[in-house]
Amino acid sequence: MLTDEFGREVTGVRVSLTDRCNFDCVYCHNEGLGDTRGPMDPQNDEMSADDVVRFLEVAAEFDVDAVKFTGGEPMLRQDLEEIIERTPDQMEVSLTTNGSFLPGRAEALVDAGLERVNVSQDALDPKDFAAITKSGAYDKVLEGVEAALEAGLDPVKLNMVVFEHTAGYVPEMVDHVAENDGLQLQLIEYMPELTGKPEWNIDIQRVHDWLEERADEVEHREMHDRKRYWISTDERSSSSDDAGGGMVEIVDPVENPTFCANCHRVRVTHEGYLKGCLNRNDDLKPMGEMTKPEIREAYREVVANRVPYYGEYMVKNGDDEWEVNDKYIGEYAEI
Ligand code: 5AD
Repeated sequence: MLTDEFGREVTGVRVSLTDRCNFDCVYCHNEGLGDTRGPMDPQNDEMSADDVVRFLEVAAEFDVDAVKFTGGEPMLRQDLEEIIERTPDQMEVSLTTNGSFLPGRAEALVDAGLERVNVSQDALDPKDFAAITKSGAYDKVLEGVEAALEAGLDPVKLNMVVFEHTAGYVPEMVDHVAENDGLQLQLIEYMPELTGKPEWNIDIQRVHDWLEERADEVEHREMHDRKRYWISTDERSSSSDDAGGGMVEIVDPVENPTFCANCHRVRVTHEGYLKGCLNRNDDLKPMGEMTKPEIREAYREVVANRVPYYGEYMVKNGDDEWEVNDKYIGEYAEI
């Protein structure tokens, strides 16, 4: 296991398999790379299955025990099953998807070794959904969640980005997961850092406060410094033995040094660049045509250079505003 200078072990990797997507969500940070909608056909800048597997085998040598495949939309890769199949056995495999391609394919993914899935679902109404995702595939997404549950990917985590457009839908999404077996909700604070729309920010503390009131039980998990809120409905009391109602988590990374201090993952862009922090693009390291020993070296270097974004790379100035720590100005060339 490799540990960075800030004592953070790297236990997981998040691998983007493509930046193509059939949706165009207004909030999307595209793994920190900006603009989203582009060509739908396979692009030759994407890592091949061999490239992905070679990297994962190296990560496995360093005791990384979890991989999350993401995109763009990772299910646009027709070789996703092959990639999952060839992922080292020690790694738990999960997928973040918009869900629209899960119908008819969830089972094959499970057969290949997929263990968990996050489905982005930002609203419960087709019109609201279309406005956010610029897609009419709402029914397909719901079907996709069903397909995932039927294939055994229980619990399915629904990702909801909380920002100006969606904040009003939080209560109904919370009810939705409380009323339906097998669903959990991740409320993800909108990250404005890479989207250029800070005016969409909401105050995530208000969501914490509201949930605290609404929840029957709050569990604080020290390891991730994250709270879990357990919610019951009239029909399903959290004290009964039927899975205990719905579970809701809040992911609140924005301007949150504690969140960064608990970050244990390294990212890989679809082009095969190692990336130590979602919010930074000045620390990218291409793996290109590298051999395994070279990838080992690059991986070591990326971990060694990892720095908590809030609290270290970004620090508060005398006016209580976040700014880049002088130490890191001009240290890396922008790629
Ligand atoms: N803020 C917060 N989360 C985001 N995601 C994408 N863009 C943003 C953003 N600007 C997350 C969503 C989505 C996943 C693929 O990435 O949770 O479900």
